[in-house]
Amino acid sequence: MKFLQKSLNAKLTKSDLLIVFGCHGKKIKLPQGVKIPVSALESFVCSSGQKRITDSIKGPFQRVLMVGLGESKKIDAENIRRAAAIAVKEARKNKLESITYWAAKNYGFDAGIFGQALAEGAVMGSYRLDDFKKSTEGLKKVTFHTGEIIKRGAKRGIAIGNGNCLARRLQDTPANKMRPRDLVREARKIAKNSVSISVKVFDEGAMKKMGMGSLLSVSEGSFEPAYLIHLIHRPKAKTGNKVCFVGKGLTFDSGGISLKPSGKMHEMKYDMSGGAAVLGVFDVLSSISSDVEVHGLIPTSENLPDGKATKPGDLVTAYNGLKIEVLNTDAEGRLILADALAYAAKKIRPDAMVDLATLTGAVVVALGHEITGVMGNDDDLTQSLVEAGKRTSEMVWPLPIIDLHKKEMKGIVGDLRNISGPATGAGSSTGGAFLSYFVGETPWAHLDIAGSAWGAAQRDYQGGEQGTGVGVRLLIDYLESI
Ligand code: BES
Ligand code: ZN
Ligand code: ZN
Repeated sequence: MKFLQKSLNAKLTKSDLLIVFGCHGKKIKLPQGVKIPVSALESFVCSSGQKRITDSIKGPFQRVLMVGLGESKKIDAENIRRAAAIAVKEARKNKLESITYWAAKNYGFDAGIFGQALAEGAVMGSYRLDDFKKSTEGLKKVTFHTGEIIKRGAKRGIAIGNGNCLARRLQDTPANKMRPRDLVREARKIAKNSVSISVKVFDEGAMKKMGMGSLLSVSEGSFEPAYLIHLIHRPKAKTGNKVCFVGKGLTFDSGGISLKPSGKMHEMKYDMSGGAAVLGVFDVLSSISSDVEVHGLIPTSENLPDGKATKPGDLVTAYNGLKIEVLNTDAEGRLILADALAYAAKKIRPDAMVDLATLTGAVVVALGHEITGVMGNDDDLTQSLVEAGKRTSEMVWPLPIIDLHKKEMKGIVGDLRNISGPATGAGSSTGGAFLSYFVGETPWAHLDIAGSAWGAAQRDYQGGEQGTGVGVRLLIDYLESI
């Protein structure tokens, strides 16, 4: 899909559909030279989410779509995103190939954010996984005609929307086509296309030498080798800030010897959603830079049962020297994250570190599919992620880690165990408590995205059974806020 940006006074070129927005009580203004039946224009009520498509009587467009934004005082980024996505959906329904957004006004809303939300909605709304389908028909070209400030915002929005779509494509791709080695390929591709981004990949031999016994234990039962991907974005001008994002990259989680029930096992292709989000963030950084030095770590592997697989009760040694009893091989995300977090704390030494992981089924029970759980060791960091969540509508809600949760993760044979006792409950918090043993003194937040990564409610630009790319918009917003 091609996204083009033009200014308001640039010549209008032919396309199948013109999209215009309107607010309650304000007449919709069409570009000069475009006409639609007066009755359609005058009877349209611009309530939020309302739309009407009509034939054009004059101008270079076949049809015109009006989309309502509601009352101007109540406009927020989310209804702009959704309005833009509604338009893409309408274009797809009518099997159109090219569409043009005309945004002459920002209705009192911040023009930059208006542009960003407009483009995010259009790009994310156009997401479709068609890599594995024969037909190639569909939307090909999207043009934005806007004023200068909206245009700058829209440029960001296109980059951010594309990063979100990349994450979703990686998520939705079946696990036999998105293996650890495929995530490595995707990371290399991002680094190759950017001057500011480089990548290092640790293979199993390198990880063995470094003593990452926890990470390596998860893929003992798989033919696919594990990797630790390390992406680095170095800004031109150093501001001194350094952050590290760590994403769980389990390309398939069968549970291992502690095998999962088969009913929903196919959903475990999504167990790499944290890693997908980190790749999405770097994809965004490759087109809009950031002053922050950003590191991305993706431990990636497959969790399968086999004669060689790690067994419940086995003891493994992590990068920081702690010995872990693997009492349940299905609590594997924390095992691969443990080594990645300990590596980040020791070698990267960031000012802040955020991990994203589809870590626990418990967070789905607690917060459902619309909200990401956050916990960690630094209230300011937690709060900045909650605020970023509000701004991006990728909501984040704090969960506690108390001393009891940490105590519960102490082992009998080794230093730690990877699950708590059966009566403790608080599955998401005990998962976070386990991770806390590997972050040292580094300010750290853990985002449990097991609920929010896929299967969320319909919001026009995302929703339904597929991946949401959660984390990309959130972390880009967080980077901007520091
Ligand atoms: N990948 C799963 C978590 C998960 C489950 C995500 C369902 C989304 C939907 C994780 O590796 C896992 O299996 N966690 C266990 C932990 C338990 C054994 C302590 C869980 O949540 O049941
Ligand atoms: Zn698991
Ligand atoms: Zn898992």
